[in-house]
Amino acid sequence: MSDLRIDVMTLFPKMFESPFAESIVARARAAGTLTLAVRDIREWATDRHHVVDDAPYGGGAGMVLKPEPLTRAIRAARGDDGHVVLMSAQGALFDQSAARRLAKERHLVIVCGHYEGIDERVIEKDVDEELSIGDFVLTGGELAAMVVIDAVARLVPGVIEAESLEHESHTEGLLEGPHYTRPVEHEGKRVPAVLLSGDHAAITRWRRAEAIRRTAERRPELLDGAALTPAERARLPRAQTRARVADADLVAAYTSGVGSYRIAARFGISPATVRARLRAAGVRLRPPRGGQRGPTANEVVRMRATGLTVRELARHFGVSHVTILDRLKKAKKSGPSR
Ligand SMILES: C[S@@+](CC[C@H](N)C(=O)[O-])C[C@H]1O[C@@H](n2cnc3c(N)ncnc32)[C@H](O)[C@@H]1O
Repeated sequence: MSDLRIDVMTLFPKMFESPFAESIVARARAAGTLTLAVRDIREWATDRHHVVDDAPYGGGAGMVLKPEPLTRAIRAARGDDGHVVLMSAQGALFDQSAARRLAKERHLVIVCGHYEGIDERVIEKDVDEELSIGDFVLTGGELAAMVVIDAVARLVPGVIEAESLEHESHTEGLLEGPHYTRPVEHEGKRVPAVLLSGDHAAITRWRRAEAIRRTAERRPELLDGAALTPAERARLPRAQTRARVADADLVAAYTSGVGSYRIAARFGISPATVRARLRAAGVRLRPPRGGQRGPTANEVVRMRATGLTVRELARHFGVSHVTILDRLKKAKKSGPSR
């Protein structure tokens, strides 16, 4: 028995022949890791002409997939353990975490709609979830199903090398950095020196930094959910963090009583930036709580332990480097903090 069985229910089975006869999906099938069956919904039509669609109640353009053949088709394919997925422009957005989740199933039944879609009663009774591959409308669910099957199949253990999946885009909430291969120089552009150094620790650090830089440039919204250390978060490019947080959000948080330090932590920007932007937005700042301005010695020591430099600490806390040095001195005098 294979690790994952996928039954595709479609009106156009021939569309799947070539994509599933190539590359990873074909290899997974040949290795017996993946069993793939493409079934024609018309097989479950009982009339002479194998009719599977009808005009919509209430009028309007287009046809709707009739409930009876489709219900029979889904139930026949599902058996006891099938998880039924309908490809739909109205479904939840399919992403890497959905792919990971589906790759853990033992049996998927993927239903491809066509025309205006399928009768709603089938969705209510026999569909476990609806997935969309993007905010656009395709002619049918076939291409969407191929996208889902490709993304899921490569995550089934043993289909491709586990190492290839470790750092790829969307695995740790980040995009992957750039790749290079021979030659060392191509049309005047050289491969980054670190990749030729043989220093594996330095290469790992460089790849991580490139992944973060690239994500900040191209998909800054992903950074909110990415697993970044405090030091990595503090080093995010300023322009990106500024673009990500709306002034209105900062003002709303501050005027609701949240302090600039907590706002800074929430949005991943420095307290100094928060205060500067609040001032620029015309907000009158409250006087700092307590006598001392800025972070306590313990707060500075804790952040210092994450690897930030004095300059980065100053930026993080929104104070001068002199204040940071002062806190570090105080912490040293009073001994190790708990
Ligand atoms: C022309 S579409 C129907 C669109 C439908 N009338 C609506 O407005 O939501 C026909 C079929 O293509 C598939 N489809 C269209 N766009 C899709 C998308 N973005 N993701 C997944 N499937 C899609 C669905 O199976 C759908 O039933």
